[in-house]
Amino acid sequence: MDHSEQRIKIAVQKTGRLTNHSVDLLERCGLKVTKSKDQLICYGENMPIDLLLVRDDDIPGLVSDDVCDLGIVGLNVVEEKRLQEEQKGSKGMFKQIFELDFGHCRLSIAAPENVPYDGPRSLENTRIATSYVGLLTDYLKKNDINAEPVFFSGAVEIAPKLGRADFICDLVSSGGTLRANGLTEVAELLQSEAVVIQTLAPLGDAKQALVDKIIQRLDGVLKVRDSKYIMLHAPRAALAQIRELLPGSEAPTVMPLEGSDDRIAIHAVCRENVFWETLENLKAAGASSLLVLPVEKMLA
Ligand code: PRP
Ligand code: ZN
Repeated sequence: MDHSEQRIKIAVQKTGRLTNHSVDLLERCGLKVTKSKDQLICYGENMPIDLLLVRDDDIPGLVSDDVCDLGIVGLNVVEEKRLQEEQKGSKGMFKQIFELDFGHCRLSIAAPENVPYDGPRSLENTRIATSYVGLLTDYLKKNDINAEPVFFSGAVEIAPKLGRADFICDLVSSGGTLRANGLTEVAELLQSEAVVIQTLAPLGDAKQALVDKIIQRLDGVLKVRDSKYIMLHAPRAALAQIRELLPGSEAPTVMPLEGSDDRIAIHAVCRENVFWETLENLKAAGASSLLVLPVEKMLA
């Protein structure tokens, strides 16, 4: 038996906004890898799982073609691939299984300072530089606009200065790239974040079991990511009010405090982040000795 066949391959962005978060997420699932920047593959040391470090744009294709079993990639890339396949009359062989709440950005149209923009009609009969021809074409079609997408594989933001386009359509995160190039965001096409995709190709039993296990762990990591364990002291009479203030918590543990009849200790898991405002409100309700701890793992 060829043992490489039994290892799971996960495609991850080689360098970019998703790289560190993706590797960190898999490490929280218990995977230990030998990281090396120039390596294309990171071998899992303690699990039969390897990471393929590749360009994000290649990830849906690698998962679709069954070279990788799973991939972590931006929704922008996933949707672009899906539309390209659709526009070719075919279908991507992958499914999207998780949204990861990191790598947030948006695909937007931006205009140079001297170009007037007054709604989508202003795009009529213009050229728009982009790496996202599929998504842009879809947007133009839905808005019934006749404009010409001009493909740029990178450095889209310089296209207007080169006289190659009137507008650009590119990813915006902080907005720094647009500002640095004298461009203003005028229309948003898509909100994006990192997602996990899985191949639709049938896996053998052993591989399927491993994929199921990693998916279950991912689910566990994602569920507790914003969870906090909160401990506090409070007057017994304030219990009902305090329960109302605890964000996303199930039945709290309530304990008597030694040497005090009317004060109790409350411990609870909050399924949402506990912000300073919440602590201030709890304090105003009579709570004291407030302590908030991160939750590392949870298995229901
Ligand atoms: C995008 C986009 C801009 C930059 C915008 O590229 O093409 O260059 O990010 O980010 P900002 O608003 O924070 O300045 P990305 O890093 O995703 O690389 P890629 O498109 O080549 O994968
Ligand atoms: Zn890219």
